[in-house]
Amino acid sequence: MEAVISSLKARKILDSRGNPTIEVEVGVRDNKGDLFYGRAAAPSGASKGKLEAVDFPAGGVDKALEKVIEIAPKLSGLDAFDQARVDETLRELDGTPNLSVLGGNTTVAISMAVAKAAALAKKMPLYQHLGGREGFELPYPLGNVIGGGKHAGGYAPDIQEYLVIATGARKVSEAIFTNARVHKKVGEMFSEANSSFTRGKSDEGAWSPNICNEGALEFLAEACELVSQEVGIEVRPALDLAASSFYDSERDLYVYKREAVTRDRGEQLDFILSLIEKFKLFYVEDPLHETDFEGFAELTRKAGNKCLICGDDLFVTNVRRLEIGIRSKAANAIIIKPNQIGTLTDTFKAVELAKRNKYVPVISHRSGETTDETIAHLAVAWHCPMIKTGVVGGERIAKLNELIRIEEELGNKARMSGLR
Ligand code: PGA
Ligand code: ZN
Repeated sequence: MEAVISSLKARKILDSRGNPTIEVEVGVRDNKGDLFYGRAAAPSGASKGKLEAVDFPAGGVDKALEKVIEIAPKLSGLDAFDQARVDETLRELDGTPNLSVLGGNTTVAISMAVAKAAALAKKMPLYQHLGGREGFELPYPLGNVIGGGKHAGGYAPDIQEYLVIATGARKVSEAIFTNARVHKKVGEMFSEANSSFTRGKSDEGAWSPNICNEGALEFLAEACELVSQEVGIEVRPALDLAASSFYDSERDLYVYKREAVTRDRGEQLDFILSLIEKFKLFYVEDPLHETDFEGFAELTRKAGNKCLICGDDLFVTNVRRLEIGIRSKAANAIIIKPNQIGTLTDTFKAVELAKRNKYVPVISHRSGETTDETIAHLAVAWHCPMIKTGVVGGERIAKLNELIRIEEELGNKARMSGLR
């Protein structure tokens, strides 16, 4: 059986912020001559890590579309079942380590569309094509409830994401609806506490209130507690500080504009430790800036037994960065964003290296998203215990509802992944 790439087409579509992004359609032909089309789109970040793949070539999406026309003949004829070869070819055609010629968003959209076309040719779901075995596990969704930092504006907190995870859920659908309940409850609490709250939302459908950094966490923690009692399962708060976005490298200080305070590295560490303790945080992402492996290691040493310490901008889904982290014991979790590294094969390598070293791989969306649902399949295919993909909003529920469908399809074979 084969699935030969026979066509490649790209177009400019909208992302959730109203910015242009790329969507790719790959056609493959099987040995009976039947055609199958896989379609995938790339997301985009607002608080990007410095060492991520370049998203688009100079000239933006329009230039990327020209590049796709240019490289289409070179991909034509390749076997879509051989994902590694396709991805290697994309890297060779680009020729730079950070994919600046084609753009990581261009390559990742092609890479994902090839996998989707191959799955269709095999007449199996994408998670099965990529996972290649039985016994699939569903991830716990981690969702953004309150937004700040680069995802919001005005008087929102400096901390980028106040997240929820229904750690006690027995099914992915139960976890998804529990997270939504917390999101709703927090909205109601804000409305009650402040009649001028407009119910405004930031990039990922998270509430965007005028509130201080710790105040937002108090609301979230209380909502988690209340919902936990209502539904009878454990629900925990979590944070993504995206600390690089408020770190002043010249002064070596973290600048919290909302409270007009600065914290040096030691104070930042103490602050995070106090939040983990006080609010029983399940997970903290990017608590320190993106080159501070030692600071991460100190936090992991002090709190890693009770809280996941996760690197996003620190690792940028890059195995070389993750190797440094593993050697220095910097964290115990890693954010996995396919467009940070540019191909499915390289994304998978980061997941495998993480798992071999007992790091929890957390498959993740970006703040600017499309309705592409690929990451839901990646989480299931690769047995990732967690998926970070928001709580509400069309581009977020595209992934969450896909997980509900996968759960239904797996029937009594559906299992939740072990969290720790
Ligand atoms: P980004 O942020 O998609 O805007 O880079 C998401 C995150 O930091 O996790
Ligand atoms: Zn992050």
